[in-house]
This record gives sequence, C-alpha cells and structure tokens, in this order.
Amino acid sequence: MNIKNGPIGVFDSGVGGLSVLRELKRLLPNENFVFLADQIHVPYGEKTKKELIDLAYRIADLFIKKYSAKMIVIACNTSTCYSIDALRKKYAIPIVGTVPAVKSASEKTKSGAIAVISTPATSKSKVLKKLISDYCGNVEVFNIGCKNLENAVEEGEIDDPRVHDLLKKYLGKIRNTKIDHIVLGCTHYPFLKNTIKKYFKPSVKLVDGGLAIAKRVKFLLKINSLKNSKKTKGETVYLTTGNALKFSRVAGKLLNKRIKSKTIKI
Ligand code: DGL
Repeated sequence: MNIKNGPIGVFDSGVGGLSVLRELKRLLPNENFVFLADQIHVPYGEKTKKELIDLAYRIADLFIKKYSAKMIVIACNTSTCYSIDALRKKYAIPIVGTVPAVKSASEKTKSGAIAVISTPATSKSKVLKKLISDYCGNVEVFNIGCKNLENAVEEGEIDDPRVHDLLKKYLGKIRNTKIDHIVLGCTHYPFLKNTIKKYFKPSVKLVDGGLAIAKRVKFLLKINSLKNSKKTKGETVYLTTGNALKFSRVAGKLLNKRIKSKTIKI
C-alpha cells in the first residue's frame, strides 16, 4: 500500500480527542483517520509518566502495525506533556502533540491576565510550567488543575448539574479577576465551551488549540510528501478500548452525527 493513503492515527483517553479530530477532518477532508479513545484507562490526568508512556507506546504500535498509520496526532494534552518525547524517540513517523495554547492567549490578552484549565497532571507538568515561563513573561497566569471534569464529558454531560458543580468549584476563584482569555488545556473541554461561557462576561475568550493542530498536521503532511493524493472524501475508523456502544452514543451526541465504533485491545 502507498504510505500516503494510510490513515493518520489520532488518540486520546476518551471522547475529548474528538474536538481535535473534527478540526482535522474539516481542514483535511481527503485524509483517512483512525481514532482511538483509550476509555478503559480514562482519566489520563491521574496517571504517572511511566503509565502514560506505556499506553502511548501500545497505541502507537497498534496504529503503525495494524493500520499502517503515516502520522500520529496525540489529541490529548496530558499524554503529550508526558510521552511525546518518548514516542518521537521510538517511532520514525511524524508525531504531533497537543499542548495548552498559552502562547496564543498571552499574545492576545489586553488585560494582562489569563487562565489555563487542564487535568491535574497537565497542570503540574514541567511542559506547561515551561510554556508559561517562556511565553507569559508579563502576563499573570492562573493555572488550574480540574479533577473529574473530563469524566463528566465522558458520560456525555455538557450542561448537567455535575458539570456546573465542578465548574463552580474550579472557576469560582477566577470569576472576579481581570482575566480576558481562558485556555482550554484539555481536549475534553471544548465540548463544555457554551457551559463555561455562562460563568464569564462575553468579552472573556475561550482558547482551544484544535485548529492550530490541524494546520500543523496539514503543513507536516506537505513537507513530508505524505498528503493523500485521492480527491474523494476520506474515511474514519472509530475505536475504543472501552464500551463501543457507549462511545458511539456519546461521540454521536458531541459531534451531532451518527458514529459507529468498535472495541479493540491495546
Ligand atoms: N483529554 C485529555 C487531555 O487533553 C485527558 C483527559 C483525561 O483523561 O484526564 O489532557
């Protein structure tokens, strides 16, 4: 098989990665994708570096050996923060990660204060701390780790009481500050955008890195001569290590279309 026609492997701990996948599919409609939600191991935000690297290796092996993936997108901030270096050392194909878009928010802020919300693991990671020190020199940054928010999205809850209880707990402390941008540092959170907006003035912007990742993938496909040459619409295979019926139901609700998935072991 021509490597160019192989899929791009995209993974996350769960349905959050679909917020990245939808941008990829919009920008690269002719590409094929294989999306894996590692739901048997969700939440990644409470795992150790060693566990995250081991899971990333198992998923990359599956993408490359079974699906002949030509590129991998880690549609998960947590996994990127702890495992992208290890993955890049082990595999020769291009690997694109997702990190909280603090650079973009700090370039845009007018008030001089931003917040970044992410999983507990991302929040305390060296990667996020370095991004903040590299790009947010004169900008005040509220770095908030949010436990359990991704679990609510996993259940398809986006405007439900559990989500509001969690948002009150985590966003309460930044509601009355001068922040004008909130970075969504977990790929599950873009599905909560409309709910999060209710807690802030309309002038507060939510920053999500999905489109920037899709643009990066487009660029890398081009410079590595990996663009799919077909003119027809690409295909997407949806996999989960958890329950396929549940994944299909929640993914369908989040993406507002019918999704068929199957369970796979990694
Ligand atoms: N969606 C993931 C992220 O971007 C992780 C959620 C989790 O499993 O904790 O970090």
